[in-house]
Amino acid sequence: MIVDRSLVEMLFQEAEKGNYAIPHFNHSDFWDMSAIVEAAKETKTPVFIACLPKVIDAIGIEKLGAVAKITMEQSDVPIIYHLDHCHSVETCLAAVDYGYRSVMIDAADLPLEENIAAVKRVVDYAHARNVHVEAEIGKIKSAGEEGYTPVETLAGLEDAKTLVEETGVDALAVSIGSEHGFYQHTPKLDYDLLEKIHSHIQVPLVLHGGSGIPEESVRRAISGGIRKVNVGTHIRHTYITSVGEAIQDMGPMTHTADIMAYAKKNVKQVLKDWIRICANK
Ligand code: 13P
Repeated sequence: MIVDRSLVEMLFQEAEKGNYAIPHFNHSDFWDMSAIVEAAKETKTPVFIACLPKVIDAIGIEKLGAVAKITMEQSDVPIIYHLDHCHSVETCLAAVDYGYRSVMIDAADLPLEENIAAVKRVVDYAHARNVHVEAEIGKIKSAGEEGYTPVETLAGLEDAKTLVEETGVDALAVSIGSEHGFYQHTPKLDYDLLEKIHSHIQVPLVLHGGSGIPEESVRRAISGGIRKVNVGTHIRHTYITSVGEAIQDMGPMTHTADIMAYAKKNVKQVLKDWIRICANK
């Protein structure tokens, strides 16, 4: 299937109509990537496969883009290969050139005008090549940072409106209290803020930091307007612990493919559970 910006927009429109979210799964290599592809195909669910700049540094943008291109083309179910949390405009542009079909420019650490300027540069380049763009407003906490999200780094409605209007960005990650990494306290999401943003802003809203948010809270966020749920840590944790278990059980002389088959089975179970939650039925 050919994946381009209009297809992604259509998928988000369907999600808005149906009150569900598209799952976004972060991958680290080709094994977990194939687990995500299989889970999408077996459940017939469109998904984002997301790659952090860290993964680009480890594997190479050209190789990742080439594998993603074949993967997207060969799939009957829409699979959108996405660059996640990229602070560099140049890397976003390179990802567009190498075949990523969606990119997130994360300039949320910068003052609003600079965030807008960075997003605008990526949007201009990506839209001319039919690639979808996500930006962030407010600051979503990184893994390991202490305490709850400070009020001043939650998404501001006016800032969100300005960013969307001035850049034409396609999707918006909103800081509503979710955090990256496993939670060190009970997650606290600001549903009022979410609903307010959803009622004023047309572009799909994205919930980051899915791992560790209880199912009922994720569903409530979807009902409040979230159209993409990002999950990373839960997948990585399952993957790594499963590899450890498999080595423990089968011994270090076992072929990598057999160790990975075990890990993939466990990862797929986690993915399918998230797919079920995002469907919000
Ligand atoms: P978690 O790792 O907390 O699930 O967050 C993933 C994420 O938001 C990626 O953008």
